[in-house]
Amino acid sequence: MATTRFLTGITPSGTPHLGNYAGMMRPALAATHTPGVENFYFLADYHALIKCQDPARVHRSTLEIAATWLACGLDPERVVFYRQSDIPEIPELTWFLTCVTGKGLLNRAHAYKAAQDKNHEAGRDSDDGISAGLFMYPVLMAADILIFNAHKVPVGRDQIQHIEMARDIASSFNHLYGEHFTLPEAVVEESVATLAGLDGRKMSKSYDNTIPLFAPRAQLQKLINTIVTDSRAPGEPKEVEGSALFQLYQAFATPEETEAMRQAYADGIAWGEAKQKLFECIDREIAPMRARYEDLMAHPEKVEAVLQAGARRARALATPLLARLRSAVGLRSLVDQASAGNTSGKAARVALPSFKQYRDRDGLFYFKLVDAQGRLLLQSTGLPSPQQAGQCIAQLRSQGTQALPALQAQLQPLEGVEQADIQQALQQLMDAAQS
Ligand code: TRP
Repeated sequence: MATTRFLTGITPSGTPHLGNYAGMMRPALAATHTPGVENFYFLADYHALIKCQDPARVHRSTLEIAATWLACGLDPERVVFYRQSDIPEIPELTWFLTCVTGKGLLNRAHAYKAAQDKNHEAGRDSDDGISAGLFMYPVLMAADILIFNAHKVPVGRDQIQHIEMARDIASSFNHLYGEHFTLPEAVVEESVATLAGLDGRKMSKSYDNTIPLFAPRAQLQKLINTIVTDSRAPGEPKEVEGSALFQLYQAFATPEETEAMRQAYADGIAWGEAKQKLFECIDREIAPMRARYEDLMAHPEKVEAVLQAGARRARALATPLLARLRSAVGLRSLVDQASAGNTSGKAARVALPSFKQYRDRDGLFYFKLVDAQGRLLLQSTGLPSPQQAGQCIAQLRSQGTQALPALQAQLQPLEGVEQADIQQALQQLMDAAQS
């Protein structure tokens, strides 16, 4: 069965809070149990440098976020879990992509425009204080996704535009150099909670209203006691609508407990008592993870070892892809290039067979393999999504003719094509990928 590859990153520039956990990490961990899915979760530490130039903080946050994932139950067997800066193929790919990305595309990025708008409002020069890193951020993010040919990228609403840009960038590259990249899609979880923070606004580092996920018990209780409530006295009925406390409770309680709390509000529960219940409810879920977290924080070498193992798995995929890309853009050994003046035959083969991907009038997605002279060697049947076409191509590229039996249903029989020609073409592609 073809697997769907999910990929998502967290930028290590702060301490994980309950909002990160309920809104992103918990659903992402649940998703690792879905059959037919491969998961890539990573620490986007190159991204951290864009917003945070405090080395100790980047370093500390990387450990905290990695330890948090593991403490919350991320199984490194199920997830390719790695640190972005351990994958040198990512910045290299970033450059390739930079060179096919219109500057105008980046001018339109929301994050960049918002920074400019702020400057305008303050009467400053448009680009005041804006680094080229912030401007280039969507390209780095595209490289994060494309280096693993991820199909789906779970993100918050604010990131949808970046995924669209990654698609645009991938298409430009494919158009110029052949079908190397799958076009990724954003997945926005509508149902997960955006938690309210201590002041009732969305829980966010930028509002300074967060509850750290692994605050020690006593601090957790203290923070919960500072959650804003209205001034209704014990015995007075209370509104669940707009109550930060209720919303937090709901994110951690069972549906029955939530219903009981709804009733307790109507019956006039005292705020103090409701806060105590909230504390117990959160602590029940967090306490076992907190113990694991504290252990990992005390043993960073354990976390480092997990990340190194993840980087090896990730690079096993990234290194061969990047080798193909280098060759595709024309960065290859001069010995291969000597073809121009070389008459000995074999090396004279500059043009390679290629895969083409397209959508036909029937609305379905197709691919074909043609040899260097444009002769058709393989022709797919109509497939429901471009991802499926991409996956078939990826299998043929990595396994050559060994992939053919499994792809019978996706390939049309062709008259007059020699098996040997198909074999030779696929082998040429694999050889090119190696060099
Ligand atoms: N930009 C994302 C954020 O700030 C983090 C991130 C970096 C990411 N690279 C990514 C998310 C690739 C998904 C895919 O939330």
